[in-house]
Amino acid sequence: MEISPEKLEWREAYKLLVGSILPRPIAFVSTMDENGIANAAPFSFFTAIGADPMLICFSPMRRGTDGAKKDTLVNIEKTDQFVINIVSEGMAQQMNDCAIEFAADIDEIEEVGFTKEPSMKVAVPRIKESHIHLECELYQVLHFGDKPGAGSLVIGKVVHIHVNGELYNKGRIETAKLKPVGRMAGNVFTDPLAKTFELIRKKEKR
Ligand SMILES: Cc1cc2nc3c(=O)[nH]c(=O)nc-3n(C[C@H](O)[C@H](O)[C@H](O)COP(=O)(O)O)c2cc1C
Repeated sequence: MEISPEKLEWREAYKLLVGSILPRPIAFVSTMDENGIANAAPFSFFTAIGADPMLICFSPMRRGTDGAKKDTLVNIEKTDQFVINIVSEGMAQQMNDCAIEFAADIDEIEEVGFTKEPSMKVAVPRIKESHIHLECELYQVLHFGDKPGAGSLVIGKVVHIHVNGELYNKGRIETAKLKPVGRMAGNVFTDPLAKTFELIRKKEKR
């Protein structure tokens, strides 16, 4: 197949992206609006940028219906703060429920039965059920149009990290205990530990 992206309707382009770039990690992003109402939503267009400064990024797209900004982006642009809550196996169902388009004044964290916990450096609450929280201050936001399906890139500087001590071992996270959830295409999720293999990186011989 030879495909020109500019000829595709955005949903078709989206399907090719999520079917090609996978599995994807999930940023479960908590934010707060100007009235202090908390919000949480998952974003799998998510990665790290660098370690020093410690930067991460994720991409909220414009809503498919009217091109409006998602609540997460609206809140971050107002408060300059958010928390990335890492999703473990037992949290998957409720995390997915947070992707329902609730009205902006609904606290999705409480709505799905998760627990809010105060953060250390930002006013936005974190989600207690997560084993790792990355407290972030907005570093930069880039917008790539306002059509349905257009993306924005939110870059956050990690200003504080919480790691459950049970999965922290000499500076490393024990993946087997974290049990992170990844996203595939459509409604399919993956347990990255289901089948893993090790590759040792060779040193260059001179
Ligand atoms: C696992 C998962 C990953 C998602 N990833 C993204 C994403 O990367 N970008 C995006 O715009 N929406 C993504 N969504 C959809 C949003 O979570 C959804 O639109 C949500 O309602 C946005 O909430 P908000 O308006 O409170 O920000 C994802 C949904 C799920 C379940």
